[in-house]
Amino acid sequence: MKHTIKTDVIVIGAGAAGLMCAIEAGKRQRKVIVLDHANKVGKKILMSGGGRCNFTNYYIDFDKYLCQNTHFFKSALSRYTQWDFIELVKKYHIPFHEKAHGQLFCDHKSRDIVEMLVAEVEKATATIKLNTTIDKIEHLNPHHFKIHTAQADYHCESLVIATGGLSIPTMGASPFGYKVAEQFGLNILPTKAGLVPFTLHQHDKDKYDSLSGVSVNSLVENKRIRFAENILFTHRGLSGPAILQISSYWQAGEFIDINLLPEVDLLAYLQQAQQDRPLQLLKTILAELLPKNVVLTLIKEELINKPIKAFDVMDLSVVIKQVQQWQVKPNGTEGYRTAEVTLGGVNCHQISSQTMQSNDIPGLYFIGEVLDVTGWLGGYNFQWAWSSGWAAGQAV
Ligand code: FDA
Repeated sequence: MKHTIKTDVIVIGAGAAGLMCAIEAGKRQRKVIVLDHANKVGKKILMSGGGRCNFTNYYIDFDKYLCQNTHFFKSALSRYTQWDFIELVKKYHIPFHEKAHGQLFCDHKSRDIVEMLVAEVEKATATIKLNTTIDKIEHLNPHHFKIHTAQADYHCESLVIATGGLSIPTMGASPFGYKVAEQFGLNILPTKAGLVPFTLHQHDKDKYDSLSGVSVNSLVENKRIRFAENILFTHRGLSGPAILQISSYWQAGEFIDINLLPEVDLLAYLQQAQQDRPLQLLKTILAELLPKNVVLTLIKEELINKPIKAFDVMDLSVVIKQVQQWQVKPNGTEGYRTAEVTLGGVNCHQISSQTMQSNDIPGLYFIGEVLDVTGWLGGYNFQWAWSSGWAAGQAV
């Protein structure tokens, strides 16, 4: 016999956003049950930041978020900020450190963050039920939803969808949230893998395969944006922070421009070498600035073995173009299999930026990555999950 359980709030998804929402709603004495089909809470938190969870960033700037409704995310991010989350982390004495660009990582492991959230959920007397598959959602009345599962049917006033995006299906990602949105007549913006490595066309893959594992501090840009960070050559193509960042701004078929020596006046450097050591080969001079195998792979063979004195200005400009305006046309991305985030999702024009409630369906809320809000690499996506979860937690 199936149980019927009445509660104030059902949150579907025990990830970053869902747990934060449950904590905040529980603190307001709302009776909250979190349902998740996975066998563990916060699986993506556990695997994040290379196992050390980049849980937020000192510099949460609005221009580091992509969303078709360009103002939507500002309210939640301003009301529950990085400083609020840092305070919580400090309250639990979780040691952390800043990496580059204000990114905050746990000193030990991501599990510290999950344990903190679970402790807060317990304190707020919310309940988490794992291994729970949602069979059906019925909308009986305004503020009355019935959630069918194999074990029980749940009746609630507020239903929060916190099921995240499509990245890493093996970690429990599913299109569930988009399907619920569609069921209720909400519009979904096309989804796409973001913060994801590029794959290369076969001829480029063959050419650069020997560079796999090499990383170079670069400036990567397209018509819309530029990122100055490392790129990493891989067996499949290109990765590394600068590539992941620009992938969220890339359209299929476009080139990206890579400057492998963004901080060097290469013309001046090479002309100086022509004066100081005219007999040295180009490859020897460039190997002072770049990994040798990058030089050998990137620069045309007829040039690298010539002494520097043999180059006129035109020849030098060819070399400079190859190093500082290297144009790459990715074949595609590695897709959701390795993407950190999903671009697009539930159209935020239909959601209250204050409460995350659907404008048309009272009692139905969407939080976290299922919404069309995507942050840069560097803790921005978790901050969105905390902030949107917090905002809904005040309202459900
Ligand atoms: P999240 O994906 O966390 O949670 C969704 C939950 O819903 C899951 O528990 C899932 O099991 C559950 N669910 C899904 N479908 C369901 C269904 N049908 N029924 C029931 N439950 C269902 N961000 C960042 O800021 N710093 C970082 O260091 C990283 N690192 C990182 C590494 C990797 C490898 C990935 C893939 C992603 C990151 N991210 C990140 C991104 C970050 O993990 C992501 O933005 C947040 O986890 C989104 O939080 P949500 O709560 O929205 O979804």
